[in-house]
Amino acid sequence: MARRKKVYEGKAKILYEGPEPGTLVQYFKDDATAFNAEKKDVIEGKGVLNNRLSEFFMNGLNAVGVPTHFIKRLNMREQLIRSVEIIPLEVVVRNVAAGSLSKRLGIEEGQPLPRPIIEFYFKDDKLGDPMVSEEHIIAFGWANQQDIDDMVALALRVNDFLSGCMLAVGIRLVDFKIEIGRIWENDFHRLIVADEISPDSCRLWDIETGKKLDKDVFRQDLGSLSDAYTEVARRLGVLPHNSGPVTRPHLVN
Ligand SMILES: Nc1ncnc2c1ncn2[C@@H]1O[C@H](COP(=O)(O)OP(=O)(O)OP(=O)(O)O)[C@@H](O)[C@H]1O
Ligand SMILES: [Mg+2]
Repeated sequence: MARRKKVYEGKAKILYEGPEPGTLVQYFKDDATAFNAEKKDVIEGKGVLNNRLSEFFMNGLNAVGVPTHFIKRLNMREQLIRSVEIIPLEVVVRNVAAGSLSKRLGIEEGQPLPRPIIEFYFKDDKLGDPMVSEEHIIAFGWANQQDIDDMVALALRVNDFLSGCMLAVGIRLVDFKIEIGRIWENDFHRLIVADEISPDSCRLWDIETGKKLDKDVFRQDLGSLSDAYTEVARRLGVLPHNSGPVTRPHLVN
């Protein structure tokens, strides 16, 4: 079989050339990293879960008219996506204080915010993804004012959709990060949601118990990350409720 051309290998995913121009295959690895890759591990089955969960969220977003790069899932670990020009920003939406917001501003973790707060971080691992303002974004040409307005609108629509999905299964969407890319149509571009939406890029707390069901389980050594992600997938109906761990083979009659 002809080997596909690898376009990019990141910390959590690999991109391969897709079957048609303008497409890519996104492969989800089991690698987990935190604190700008200072902490690393391999979590068996994480890639399979994130592939399924990202498919679930992106399909849902497409269905409600929020454009995403997702075309279709190909197999356990791979999905076909539209190739975009990634805007080099991480767009973070926060509903409840946690993580760096709590640390920086001294707001107690868990305090609900008066309105969703959107933040932009410059995607640069060497610099540790520093937070930037709209002034920086425009001055350095990463995006223009129209793009910023579109990114904010997209991020808020994703927030409404994801918050609703999670609330329905007893989970609070504390915050999340998305990446956004440009697709060109003649001389014009449109912005669409790219990368992944999964418990790697969200903070998810059980509404009843406050139990963390996201990558903080790995960051803070709170137990099994794959159990937490499996729990999210089961509640959303992405995995059958009675299935075992995703990596264990089972007999089919
Ligand atoms: N539709 C897309 N078209 C092109 N690039 C994409 C698309 N979706 C995601 N990407 C990019 O693919 C890469 C996915 O790999 P991964 O998430 O493992 O990277 P990473 O290690 O987090 O590093 P970084 O995001 O800083 O490049 C990211 O660089 C992401 O920006
Ligand atoms: Mg990434």
